[in-house]
Amino acid sequence: MFNTMTITKTAGALIGALLTLLLVNWAASSLYHVGAPAHAAAEGEDVIAQAYAIDTGADDAGADAPGEEAEPVDMVALVAAADPAAGERTWGKCRACHKLDGTDGTGPHLDGVVGRAVASVAGFAYSDAMVEHAAEAPVWDENALAAFLDDPRGVVPGTKMAFAGLGSPEETAAVIAYLQTTGG
Ligand code: HEC
Repeated sequence: MFNTMTITKTAGALIGALLTLLLVNWAASSLYHVGAPAHAAAEGEDVIAQAYAIDTGADDAGADAPGEEAEPVDMVALVAAADPAAGERTWGKCRACHKLDGTDGTGPHLDGVVGRAVASVAGFAYSDAMVEHAAEAPVWDENALAAFLDDPRGVVPGTKMAFAGLGSPEETAAVIAYLQTTGG
């Protein structure tokens, strides 16, 4: 049986539902812009409207290869600009094992190591890893030294140089600049 109360409730529910629909519709259209792009509409093409474009980067001119690796730091320039005096302080981290007077300690002497052949100190018992590394990368130039000093065991897995690595390219550049001033 219908009575006034039932009719009022039903009407209220219907109006409420309509209002909700209107609100949802309004919210949705304010979030997503629906409709063909202007140029397509002008050309009268039948285009499927897109809520948003996914940038695949395919047409980015000059984009890097996948992976987007950071540009390697040019150590030659960084070493040239570095302060050897600052490097001498960093050398304190190496001194326990390396000397600069032509004699070996735990590590081989590092006289003139910048530009020196890898694993070339006669009489020093290099690890097999370092000897193998010499076959791949024969010279300690600025970039080879920097990579090794940044992560010795990453660059020469199995090296017996028990050193975690230096903190920053600037610190590394400074110690290389200092080593350049030593030995022939
Ligand atoms: C705990 C000792 C230790 C410390 C500290 C250490 N090294 Fe070494 N280093 C070694 C040993 C041992 C080797 C030989 C590695 C091998 O044969 O695998 C070596 C090898 C090297 C080589 C290769 C030399 C060659 O003749 O091929 C360089 C360059 C080098 N160290 C630089 C440094 C610098 C610069 C520091 C300081 C930032 C440093 N090391 C700190 C022990 C050390």
